[in-house]
Amino acid sequence: MQDLTTSMRTDMCGHLTAADAGRTVSVCGWVDRRREHGEHLAFIDLRDHTGVVQCVVNSSHDLRSEYVARMTGAVRLRPDDTANLDLATGEIEIEVREIEILAEAEPPPFPLDERTDVDETIRLRHRYVDLRKSRMQRNLRTRALVNSAVRRGMEEQGFVEIETPMLIASTPEGARDFVVPSRKEPGSFYALPQSPQLFKQLCMVGGIDRYYQIARCLRDEDLRADRQFEFMQLDAEMSFVNQEDVFTAIGHAVANAAEAVTGDRPSVFPRMTWLEAQERFGSDKPDIRFGMELVELTSIFEGTEARVFQAPCVKGIRMEGGVEALSRNQIDALVETCQRWGAKGLAWMKVIAGDSGPALDAGVAKFLSDTESSAVIDALDAVPGDMVFLVADERRVVRHVLGLLRLELGKPPVNEGGLHFLWIVDFPLFETIADNGVPVPAHHPFTMPHEDDWGLLEQTGEALLEVRSQSYDLVLNGWELGSGSIRINRSDVQNRIFELLGIGEQERRAKFGFFIDAFQYGAPPHGGFAFGLDRLVALLAGETNIREVIAFPKTQSGADPLTNAPSQIDGGHLDELGLRVLPPAT
Ligand code: AMO
Ligand code: AMP
Repeated sequence: MQDLTTSMRTDMCGHLTAADAGRTVSVCGWVDRRREHGEHLAFIDLRDHTGVVQCVVNSSHDLRSEYVARMTGAVRLRPDDTANLDLATGEIEIEVREIEILAEAEPPPFPLDERTDVDETIRLRHRYVDLRKSRMQRNLRTRALVNSAVRRGMEEQGFVEIETPMLIASTPEGARDFVVPSRKEPGSFYALPQSPQLFKQLCMVGGIDRYYQIARCLRDEDLRADRQFEFMQLDAEMSFVNQEDVFTAIGHAVANAAEAVTGDRPSVFPRMTWLEAQERFGSDKPDIRFGMELVELTSIFEGTEARVFQAPCVKGIRMEGGVEALSRNQIDALVETCQRWGAKGLAWMKVIAGDSGPALDAGVAKFLSDTESSAVIDALDAVPGDMVFLVADERRVVRHVLGLLRLELGKPPVNEGGLHFLWIVDFPLFETIADNGVPVPAHHPFTMPHEDDWGLLEQTGEALLEVRSQSYDLVLNGWELGSGSIRINRSDVQNRIFELLGIGEQERRAKFGFFIDAFQYGAPPHGGFAFGLDRLVALLAGETNIREVIAFPKTQSGADPLTNAPSQIDGGHLDELGLRVLPPAT
C-alpha cells in the first residue's frame, strides 16, 4: 500500500484495522455520519477516499455533516458485540483526544450514500460534492489506472508520445466541428480536432514510426450514453505494418488496461468479418456475451403462400422459455417497437409440444405450411416453451431489426458475463450510396481499400458497396470501443477515392492540400487505431453511461450545470472577434 501520510495525518481513515489497536493516530476527512451516544458522547464517521472510521468524541463538539476535520486519538477495539464486520474498519474506533475543525460546511445538497437516486443536473451542479461518493472515487481511480496501464502498454512497444495541436483546420471524421473564432483574422476560424487523424499520419511521413497520444477529441454531435462533446482517445499510428501488427499493438495496451482493473489478462481477441457480424447478430458491434443468433430462413420461404414471408430475406431468432417470459401485451409492444425500427411487422409464434414433436402455435402459425413449420423449428433448434420471432424484408432491414430485438430480449446487465472483446474486420469501404449517386465513406477518405477489391473501384453505383476496406473496429460487450484502418499511401488510389467521393480538385486542395502535398515526399505504408478511453473505463467500471467515469461531464443536452457553459460573451469581445450574434430565428 502506498504511503499517503502528510504533516497532518498519520493514517488513512479506511486503512485502520485491529492491528492498529493501541496506536495514537491522526486522520483527516469529512464528517460522514453522526450518531449521539448517551448524553456526552457522539460517534462520528470520518471519511476520506479510502473509507470511513468511527471516531468517539465528546458530544459538545459542533461537528456537522461534511465538516472537514482532523481527529487525533488512540485506536481501540470496539466491544465485541458492536463490531461491524461489513466494514473494513468495523472492528476498531478512535477514542478522540483532539479535534481540529479544518472547514465548516453547508448541509450537502444531496445525501452522499449510494442508495439515494439524485437528479443528474443537481449532481453535476455540485459535482465537487458528488465526487466524494465512493462510486465516483472508484470510477475516477479506475480511469487513472486504465490511462497508466495503456500508456505503459504503448511505451513498452516503442510508441512515442506526441502532442498534436488543438487549434487546427478541419479533420474529416464526419461529425460537426467545434470552431474557435480568430481575433487576428476576423471572419476566420480554427476547428477543434475531431481526432488527431491527419497529424498522426503526418508523423508517419515524418519518420516517427510509432506514435501514440492520449488525445482529447471534440465533436459537435448529439449526446448519448456513450457520447460526449469532448472525449478521450488512445490514439496510435504505426509505419510498415499490416492489420495484424496493429491488432497486436492495440490488443497489448487494451489487455494491460483490463488486467490492471480486473486482475485477469484477457486472451487474444477473436475476429469476425463485418458481414458475418451482420448476418449472425444484425450489428457491426455484436454483443457476444449471449447467443440468440439470427438464423437464416430465406430458403424455407422461397415460393411460400404466406404473404407475410414473400420477401427477399427472412430471418428468425429464438427466445428460450419465451412463452412463460412474455405476456401478450409485451409481445404486442415488441411488434410496435420493431415497426418503429423500420420493419413492416414482427411475426411471432409459440413453440408447443405437438403430437409428433415440437409444433408452432398462435401468432402467424396458421399461415405456415407443415413443411415450413417444421423447417423453421429445425433451423431455430426450437423446443416447446420457446418463442420464435421472424422478420421478412430487405436483408438490410431484417438484420437491423432482429439485431435490435435480440438485444432487447437477451442483453445481460453491463457487469455480467465477463469481458468479450472482438475485432470486426473487412468493413465495407462505403456505407451507402447517397441519392446523388455518390458513395458515403464508412470510415474516413484515407482508408485503404481491401487489396483484393481494388479492381471493383472502377465500378459505379451499388456495385461499390461490395468493396471491402482495410478498416477494423474493436468491440467490447456490444459497444464500439474503437476503429482504425490501414491508410492509403499511394496517390493513384487516393485520387480514385476522392474522385468516387465527388471531392473535386479544388475541394481537395482547399481541404487536404497540405496533406496531399506531404504524401509527395515519401509516405511509408502505415495504419493505426483509436479507442475511446471513456467507453473502455465505463465498461471496466460496470457503468452504462460514460458520464459516470468523467470528472466534469456535460449533460445530455450539452450543458455544464456547474460552470454554466455554454454562456454568452460580452459585446466588446464579439467586436474584437468581428462577430455579431443574430437574434434567434422565429
Ligand atoms: P472514430 O471516429 O471511430 O475513429 O473514433 C474512435 C473511438 O472514439 C470513441 N468516440 C467517442 N467517445 C465518446 N464520445 C464521442 N462523441 C465519441 N466519438 C468517438 C469511440 C470510437 O470508437 N481517427 C479515427 C481512428 C483511426 O482511424 O485511427 C477515429 O477517430 O470509442
Ligand atoms: P398482417 O397480415 O399485416 O396483419 O400481419 C400479420 C402478422 O405478421 C403481424 O403480427 C405482423 O406484425 C406480422 N408481419 C407483417 N409483415 C411482416 C414482415 N414483413 N415480417 C415479419 N412479420 C410481419
